[in-house]
Amino acid sequence: MGKCTSCGAWNSFQEEVIQSSVSTASTPITTSGHKPTILSEIKTEKLNRIATGIHELDQVVGGGIVPGSVILLGGEPGIGKSTLLLQVAVSLDKKVLYVSGEESPQQIYLRAQRLNVPSNTCYIYSETNVAAIIQEIKTFQPELVIIDSVQTLKHPDIDASPGSVSQIRETTNLLIELAKQTHIPMLLIGHINKEGSIAGPKILEHMVDVVLQFEGDMQNVYRILRSNKNRFGSTAEIGIFEMVQNGLREVSNPSEIMLSGNPEKLSGVAIASVMEGIRPLMIEVQALVSTAAYGTPQRTVNGFDGKRLNMLLAIIEKRLGVKIYTKDVFLNIAGGIRVQDPAIDLAVVAAILSSLFDFYIPSSYCFAGEVGLTGEIRSVSQVEKRIKESTKLGIQKMFVPPCDIQSKSQCNVIPCTRVDQTFREIFKKQSATE
Ligand code: TYD
Ligand code: MG
Repeated sequence: MGKCTSCGAWNSFQEEVIQSSVSTASTPITTSGHKPTILSEIKTEKLNRIATGIHELDQVVGGGIVPGSVILLGGEPGIGKSTLLLQVAVSLDKKVLYVSGEESPQQIYLRAQRLNVPSNTCYIYSETNVAAIIQEIKTFQPELVIIDSVQTLKHPDIDASPGSVSQIRETTNLLIELAKQTHIPMLLIGHINKEGSIAGPKILEHMVDVVLQFEGDMQNVYRILRSNKNRFGSTAEIGIFEMVQNGLREVSNPSEIMLSGNPEKLSGVAIASVMEGIRPLMIEVQALVSTAAYGTPQRTVNGFDGKRLNMLLAIIEKRLGVKIYTKDVFLNIAGGIRVQDPAIDLAVVAAILSSLFDFYIPSSYCFAGEVGLTGEIRSVSQVEKRIKESTKLGIQKMFVPPCDIQSKSQCNVIPCTRVDQTFREIFKKQSATE
């Protein structure tokens, strides 16, 4: 069927073959043998988390992999999912079973050679039949299992092709059960579909303990590892990696590479302080405003929401009285990172105005503030953390919405209430000094 008769969406139907032999009606009720227990009397063992040796990954999962947990890693093709997990496999000094249904052992060997880490504890197993994989895990008793990927797994009793909803549901279900029984942690790779969510049934994300998303711009070398769900920790941490010749390199101080310093003193550049999870990041926002050659001006964005840019342009037009509807506007967030923090708004406005009036904004200025429709600058979260990070990187003037700041800092904190006021001040000072 092309169109859904209830919601009207096109091409949203997925085939699911229902097995007639699997009947639930006649199976007797099996119990786990547990009795209801008072919450405070439940005994736990201390979670002995396994450190993978890749610090950024450990941080994202909450300080290491919990035994018996199942982690799902999703991401675009070619983003580096296989590379990341192979790096885990070779750098971990434990018996790891790397099950690959996508690549031959020879291909994996070649990749491991690029990573340049010799390992005698990583075993490559090329198999897609889930029954065989489970058998192998039971006899082989590895300390970590990596499955690349769940979309290639096949259950011999299910008459659907690998990657279909019923195959993914059944095969991962079996693997999760095994992980819980044996306490062997599992890392599963999942493909994503056109819309960017993990391919297969939504229930897949419900079943696993941790859902990680590996993302980044393909033209760029930086990759962000985010956690969307974590039963053993917070989802606020992110990990940043750089794809280099010999695999993924951890980036522990991301702000330094995101800033070029603008040595030529060019206009159209402003520095924003954004929070990625709980991590403050300094990011360079670049804008180019030029007269439109055609009737309809172009608005091109990279790493920022196009609709939000249109909104900010309308605010500039209306609240600052600046004519911008005849201009082409190009906006780029340096480093190829997609920013979700609305606090970047103020730097976007700054970069656009800077390019429009050809005024240079000193690289010792930093902006953090959400811009509202009336041109007011709205408060942002974790101002102190942002100021601390900015000071560390040599920022001297920090433009933030008015707020209480407890700790003293060397950097000059300038409270801003409205965009028009703020930028008049900045540009007035600049023309006075020039
Ligand atoms: P890969 O892990 O195969 O991606 P995925 O499993 O997510 O589809 O990574 C693919 C890209 O990574 C590949 O296009 C080349 C690049 N790469 C490097 O730049 N350096 C390396 O050392 C490796 C192993 C890969
Ligand atoms: Mg892969």
